[in-house]
Parts: sequence; C-alpha cells; structure tokens
Amino acid sequence: MSDIKNKIENLRKELERHNRLYYIEHNPEISDYEFDQKLKELERLEKGHPEFADENSPTKRVGGDITKSFETVAHEFPMMSLSNTYSKDEITEFIARIDKNIGGDTEYVCELKYDGVAISVRYENGKFKRAVTRGDGQKGDDVSSNIRTIKSLPLRLTDNGDYPDFFEIRGEIMLTRTRFEKLNAQLEEQNEKPYANPRNTASGTVKLQDSKVVAQRGLDCFLYAVNAGVPVAENHFDAVVKAGNWGFRVPKEKDNRIKVCKNIDEIMDFINYWDTERLNLDFEIDGVVIKVNRHNIQYELGSTAKSPRWAVAYKYKAEEAQTVLEDIRFQVGRTGAVTPVAYLKPVQLAGTLVKRASLHNADIIQNLDVRIGDTVHVEKGGEIIPKIIRVNKSLRPADSKPFEFIKQCPECAAALVRKEGEAVHFCPNETECPPQILGKMQHFISRNAMDIEGLGQETIVQLHQAGLIKGIADLYELNKEDLLPLERMAEKSADNLIKGVEKSKSQPFEKVLFGLGIRYVGATVAKKLTQHFKNIDQIASAGIEELEAAPEIGTVIAKSVYAFFRNDDYKQLINRLKNYGLQFEVVEEEGATQKLDGLKFVISGVFQKLERNEVKKLIEKNGGKNTGSVSGSTDYLIAGEKMGPAKREKAQKLGVNVISEDDFLAMIE
Ligand code: IVH
Repeated sequence: MSDIKNKIENLRKELERHNRLYYIEHNPEISDYEFDQKLKELERLEKGHPEFADENSPTKRVGGDITKSFETVAHEFPMMSLSNTYSKDEITEFIARIDKNIGGDTEYVCELKYDGVAISVRYENGKFKRAVTRGDGQKGDDVSSNIRTIKSLPLRLTDNGDYPDFFEIRGEIMLTRTRFEKLNAQLEEQNEKPYANPRNTASGTVKLQDSKVVAQRGLDCFLYAVNAGVPVAENHFDAVVKAGNWGFRVPKEKDNRIKVCKNIDEIMDFINYWDTERLNLDFEIDGVVIKVNRHNIQYELGSTAKSPRWAVAYKYKAEEAQTVLEDIRFQVGRTGAVTPVAYLKPVQLAGTLVKRASLHNADIIQNLDVRIGDTVHVEKGGEIIPKIIRVNKSLRPADSKPFEFIKQCPECAAALVRKEGEAVHFCPNETECPPQILGKMQHFISRNAMDIEGLGQETIVQLHQAGLIKGIADLYELNKEDLLPLERMAEKSADNLIKGVEKSKSQPFEKVLFGLGIRYVGATVAKKLTQHFKNIDQIASAGIEELEAAPEIGTVIAKSVYAFFRNDDYKQLINRLKNYGLQFEVVEEEGATQKLDGLKFVISGVFQKLERNEVKKLIEKNGGKNTGSVSGSTDYLIAGEKMGPAKREKAQKLGVNVISEDDFLAMIE
C-alpha cells in the first residue's frame, strides 16, 4: 500500500517540478504530451486510492470544483493600498520626506505595478493553504479552488526552500494579452460579446463559480511581497529573490523588472525605461512601485490608515484628450441590443483621430451625467474603443438639458424593453426590425455558420434593399433573373451566388443551428445541442429541464432555446428551411469520435507514417478543426520534418502546443 502512496507522492512532486520548469523558468525538460501522460497516470492512481487524496495535487489544477458563494476570510495582515504619484516632483517629495525621518542614503526598490487583481495566498509548511481576494483590505473572499488552477503559482514549495512555517504572499492575478485575445477570438467566433480589457476579465474570472472554466482561461500570478510576521530577509529585494527560490514567479533583476536604486535619477531611469518598454510586455502595467528596501526602515516609517509610508506608486497617465460631444446616436445589433454611441468633435489621441466613443448603456450615461454639447474627457486605456471618463461641467452650455435615453427603437419604433437587473435596452421586434433581420441574415451566411460562397455581407444589404430577401429562407428562393438587374451583379457573380446557396444545403446540422442565431447559442453550444439531441425535432420539443440536461447547457441558454422554438415565426422559418433541404439531423460517420472536440490544429512539414491529407482527415473525423496558419486560437501545431523554425517560434510565443506525429496519433488512439 505505501508503495502506491510513494508513487503518488513522487508523481506529484515530479509534476509540480515540471510545471515550474515550464511556467516559471520557461525551460521545460519534457514535452507537453509526456506531461499529460504523467498527469493521467496520477489521475488514475488517485481515482483508485481516494484515501490518498490531496487538495494540492497537480490534478486539481484542471479545476472541477463549483463554488456557489465564496467564504469571507480575514487577512492575517491587512492588504493596504498605495498612494499614487504622477510626476518626478512628487517622487522627489516622497524621498525628501523619508530622508527627513531616516537621514539620507536610503535604498529604494523599483518594481512594475501590475494592472491586475490583488490576491493574498497563504502557505503553511510549504503548502498552498488558501487564496483570498483583497476585499475591503481586512477580509476578502476565499477563492482557493479558482486560484489553484493557476499553473504559475506553486501548490507546494521547492524541497530545499528555507521558507517560514507560515506566510502570506501578495501578488497580482493577471491575464496575458495573448490569453485575452485568444479568449476574445473564441467569443467572437461564437458570436458572443468580447471582453473590454485583460484586467476586468481577470477580475471576473477569479470570481467564477466553475473552476474548470477558470483553468481554461489560463490566468497568471505575479508576486511582490512576503508577509510572515517576522522578516524573511533584511531587505525587500532579498525577500523577493528568496520567494523566487521557493518556486514563485517574481521579477528578475536581469530583465530589469526589479531594481535597487540609490537616488531619484536611478528611479526616473527605471520609470522612463518602462514607460515605452511596457508596450512590449505581454501583460499590462499601469505604473511603477517604489519601495524602501530595508525592512527595519519600512517598520520605522510605518503606515497611515490606508497605505504604507515606505512605498509609493508612480502611475503612467492613460492618454487623455478633451473634446465636445456632438451627438449620441443608437445602434441596434443583431440580437436587438441597443447601444448608445458618442459622436465627438474629432480629436487626436494616442496617435489616432478619435471620432466616436462607447457609452455602453443608460446607466453609464446617467452616472456621468453626460449631455449633448458637453465638453468631455476621452481616455484610451486598455480598452479597444476609447471611452468618456468625465464631463468638464464648468464648460457646460447654460441651456443644456439632461440626456434622455430613447424609449423607442430608432430603426423600427417598437417600444424598447429593459429586463430587470440588466443594463441593456432591447428592441423586442426580432422578426421585423431591419438591423436585426439584416444582422441575422449576415450571421447566417458568415464563415462559421453556413459559409455561403459567392455571397458577401454587403450583398445581403443590397438584396434586402432591392426587396429580394426579407429573411434567411428567402435566400433559397433566389434565381438568376432576380439577381442580374442588380448593380455590380455580372452573370458570373449571379451564378456563383446561386451555386453557393445550393451548396450550403449540405452544411452539417450544427452549422445550421448556429446560423439560426438563437440568442446565447454560439458555435460551441450549437455543437453540444446537436450532439446531444441528434435532430431538430428533439430540440424543438424539449422542455427546459431536458435542455438543461445536455452537457454545458445552463438555464439561460435553455430558456432562450425553449422560447425560440415556441415562436410561430421561427417555427415557420424552420419548416421552410426543411423543405429547401437543409440539414436538420446529425449524420454519423463511421469511426468518428469527438476526441478532438473543439480543438484547432495546424499541420506543417512532412510526416513519416501518414500523408498530410490523411492527418487532416483524421483531425476532422475526430471532431477537430484544421486551420491554415498558427494564431492565438490554435490549440496544437503538429510538426512534421522540415517545418520552418519561424513557425515553431511563433507557436511557442503564442503558447500553442507543438506536438509530433506520434503524439497526435496517441491523442486519437
Ligand atoms: S506593494 C502595502 N507592489 O497595487 C502595499 N503592489 O495600489 C502593498 N500592485 O493593492 C502593495 N503591483 O494590488 C505592490 N509591485 C507591486 C504591485 C502592487 C501591483 C497593486 C496591489 C496593490 C495596489 C495598490
């Protein structure tokens, strides 16, 4: 028996070590595939021997625990904030204050100020104990099950570490830009709303109930302070180096991410270096933190109620400009969501001419009390679209009136609805409101849905304007004679369009279902539904509970699907599409599996056992997808012989797994 226990223990240690080599030292010794095999072996052993369970086992990093509400826990040491400075003068003042209290010659440490979510992680006897959010600084939420999934955070510390029996280590939970873009690419593909910036996404992710989803997001954790009651070293810099030796991701002097500075000039050099260099980081920082290095001086200086006197943040200014808000107009999307857009007097900001800014929803307009004619400040932070951050009320025209959100749809005049607890207004006129109809048709023909060749987004607008199509089903009634009189429609384009529409009739059921544009039914959900129910009649007749019983279908999706199939207009639409011969049931291929479900592959080079085409076929037969070139959303690059080094490099940079032909065959074995 103790043999098994030893084996489990050794595997855990080995896996944690490989984890550290991969995620912290960026210097792996084994392939991803070998790692997965060892992890599977450990999973198997743990399953067979529940008596040896351990919440800090590497198998826990994949998540699985659901937390309905997080427990509130007190911090052993309060989590303070930092006072902010924005100029060299203010830092000079900070240093002068310390000199006055302590005398000159004080050493400082400069570090990056990570723009993420603060976390405090407690370790006892070298093991992860729990992770708590900042909360009000005195107590926060225990989010351990989510934080355990972060691979760059050790669950057990390195064996030879001289760490104290217990300590709380502080750091910042971050989502890299690469991961953020990957997530948004997935959301867009599923026709879901993308996230605004990495920080908000990280913050939302830390509080998710399902730790499996957290694990998939791939958060990171950067550490910057150890609190053990007693100092672990004489100065802060040494404490950081020590934490690095215990297995934490800490800034390295060789990367200039942490630096001991003796005077204001050295501090300013560090600040100025990162002001431009930060754009080359794969994560966002919003400034630099300057700390007194020696712990005994920190102690002597003490803290105010809110922040320590021995540290200060220097914040980089987000680029900001002042301009006039000329108008607020409204856009109606495919789903009927009504979004207010600010039209600005064009202004130069961070190298681009800004004419519009997002205002998101009625609450934001109300909170800002922004009115047409106001002089407003626009900021370009981490967000993709600039936003209005404040109104310069001293320049407000005397006759200005509070802005009133519209009550009727600007496109079809239907009365708008706003569901309780939701910030967004909707136009309920799904089947008649022009942008909703157009949007639905454009979605239907798009690449990830029916992918109709010869028919572009603008042509849909053109056909709609000419009165040839009012909805999806009309596409299947088009004939060449109707098309030829249209502008820019030559004989050949008309032929191609008709051919493309005809060909789309053989698109698989999951694409058709996705193409229908049911709210909350993205590409992934469509696939889950079709696999579970097999045909449209089963889905259409399913009750909410039956829908919820399908894998990964929650209440919100179930209700939306249920309502869709009870709408008479949609019932009619489906009948028409059925008559035209579209696919409404799953066609099972012999030997097909879902082992590679949802995974995206790129193949490159020459293979030993298989032809390139065979590899491609095997990917698809097992539920995976072939794509042409490596991008942030690629999951695996299958590397054959003679693959170019540039491709490998790109894949590694984007965090794509590079596997061999044999690794691939083992995956579908
Ligand atoms: S030290 C006692 N160092 O900034 C002060 N904080 O505005 C402890 N932060 O709550 C903070 N990078 O979440 C420190 N290198 C760094 C940091 C950092 C980011 C965050 C942290 C803190 C906030 C203060």
